[in-house]
Amino acid sequence: MKQIIEQLYKTKTVVDRNGKTYELKAAIDRREGELLFDIIHQDFGILKTLEVGCAYGLSSLYICSALQGRSGAFHTIIDPFQNTTWHGIGIKHLEEAEIDFFHHIEAKSEFALPQLLAENERKFDFIFIDGLHTFDHTLLDCFYANRLLRVGGYLAIDDVSFSSVRRVVDFFKSYPCYEEYRSVSSTGSKPFKKLIARALISPIPQKIWAKILRWNLYHKIFEDKIIRTIVLKKIAEDNRRWDWHNDAF
Ligand SMILES: C[S@@+](CC[C@H](N)C(=O)[O-])C[C@H]1O[C@@H](n2cnc3c(N)ncnc32)[C@H](O)[C@@H]1O
Repeated sequence: MKQIIEQLYKTKTVVDRNGKTYELKAAIDRREGELLFDIIHQDFGILKTLEVGCAYGLSSLYICSALQGRSGAFHTIIDPFQNTTWHGIGIKHLEEAEIDFFHHIEAKSEFALPQLLAENERKFDFIFIDGLHTFDHTLLDCFYANRLLRVGGYLAIDDVSFSSVRRVVDFFKSYPCYEEYRSVSSTGSKPFKKLIARALISPIPQKIWAKILRWNLYHKIFEDKIIRTIVLKKIAEDNRRWDWHNDAF
């Protein structure tokens, strides 16, 4: 399976069942893939995994290669457009890697996740969210993921640099039942650009800028790293009361 992954990154192309070639796009990169792989590989308690958003199958390949050979392992994939937009290539890659312990649900996550929850509350060990990246959709995916995940399990979320996704992640990070476990980040704006920007705006306190600057711009200026993929660990049952809230939101 490692060979397939290497080949995909090297050629930056994918081939469908009819031999037609397409550019590799939308996929997680090596560091992000290795993060998913490492966490699953190192925790032998991870057997039941779930992924929202398969595309050309890079994340599926990393997750399944970490699970391979583990008795009882099973991977569930939700992707409504696998056989249309993505030409069935993600599933083809898993088949080529001789993975037979997965199931693809060809439906939008807003329909598939509530159905899964009906029979799988707190049964998943690892969930990766990389579907539709709007705020409301990510929130919905994470809401169901939280209910599907057992204590001790991991919730991984991609594209945290999108402000829509970041807002959801910031909210979930404030739940008492989650702790930040690991992440992949990049350095963001060049340090000298940040220094100049910070010097120019220094007469006004940072908390005022937080209110008036566009969210993205604020983070570009004040943050030293941009998180791209984050993994939260569920460390307790989610026992928030009906009146739990976070004043920051
Ligand atoms: C960024 S791509 C996923 C990339 C993939 N994880 C990888 O590493 O190669 C986003 C995926 O979300 C899927 N998607 C779009 N809308 C969705 C929805 N409503 N429910 C679930 N998946 C959705 C798309 O079909 C696409 O495969």
